[in-house]
Amino acid sequence: MREQLLQKFGEIFGGTDGAKLYFAPGRVNLIGEHTDYNGGHVFPCALTIGTYGVARKREDKKLRFYSMNFEKLGVLESGVENLKPEKEADWTNYPKGVIWAFGEKGYEVTNGMDLLLFGNIPNGSGLSSSASVEVLTGAILRDMYGFAVSNQDLALIGQYSENRFNGVNCGIMDQFAIAMGQKDNAIFLDTATMEFEYAPIHLEGAKLVISCSNKKRGLGDSKYNERRSECETALAELQKVVDIRTLGDMSEEQFEANKGAIASEVRIRRARHAVYENQRTIKAVAALKANDIEEFGRLMNASHVSLRDDYEVTGIELDTLVEEAWKVEGVIGSRMTGAGFGGCTVSIVKDSAIEAFKEQVGRAYLDKIGYAADFYVVEIGDGPVIL
Ligand code: GLA
Repeated sequence: MREQLLQKFGEIFGGTDGAKLYFAPGRVNLIGEHTDYNGGHVFPCALTIGTYGVARKREDKKLRFYSMNFEKLGVLESGVENLKPEKEADWTNYPKGVIWAFGEKGYEVTNGMDLLLFGNIPNGSGLSSSASVEVLTGAILRDMYGFAVSNQDLALIGQYSENRFNGVNCGIMDQFAIAMGQKDNAIFLDTATMEFEYAPIHLEGAKLVISCSNKKRGLGDSKYNERRSECETALAELQKVVDIRTLGDMSEEQFEANKGAIASEVRIRRARHAVYENQRTIKAVAALKANDIEEFGRLMNASHVSLRDDYEVTGIELDTLVEEAWKVEGVIGSRMTGAGFGGCTVSIVKDSAIEAFKEQVGRAYLDKIGYAADFYVVEIGDGPVIL
């Protein structure tokens, strides 16, 4: 991999002197979906698949970008000054956004760079290829300029750039999971306080399987922002009757006793998801610590039902993948992961059932949806590294 990437960099940008290779992972969220912008808990982990970048500082102010995933686009050029998001959403808006965000935070990027990327996360799959590029860019800039920023800062700067430069009102989960990833551990993060702990994931006799729907998110970003504002409105309505800062502050009982303050049935369902999903996440981590993987799986399944019925972010593709997975013997739990509206599901599958899982779910999906799903057995990896 290393040799191939450096060679390609040399061909595109002329030689490899001074070029360095970096990697940032993708992520999968095990449970705690659409809770991170509601002051709730999340439980994601970094993966061993992700984005590789070869980068070199330039003497001038030019930014030159090349992605091996979008070779047809060729080299895309811009300047390091006056960075603005381009209307056409090409991938360079992510590294450009992070360069811009470093400047906003007082870390001035003075020079241009040549940057070649290669990602082995399926694009638009809900495994955070964009946050992976953001954290990767941050790790490159930190190394190139010696900026005193921690991995947690890289996560915050990545989120800031996605919110302000790319106009997606995402929470902190993706960038945090990627920047703070630790091999064989998931991260139990309280997004209200940013307190977190690592929880070892030892799936004895089972693996994490990602099923990719191959449905691109499309309208996802605007729907995402819509869900977010529905929750904000519901919170404001609840705050008239209870003393809470976020939906993550509420217990299920407190929600049931006060939900009448929310004036629309749709918003009641949105807020119900946020409250119950947060509590489910806390319970799931407790179950995992008690070695009760079956209970963890049941909570994953309940998470999907809530995302399907109350939050309405699944769609026929993700529902088919999950409902077919539930039918396979040896599946401990299965749910959609990430923002939804397409993308992937995550399942915990016993080793002995993995082949049957791919076969049965794959066939049923193709029959119903008309195109194939892809399956990946994944491993939990570390955060960004210089290779
Ligand atoms: C996207 C966002 C995250 C989070 C998830 C849903 O991945 O980037 O911040 O809100 O959706 O849980």
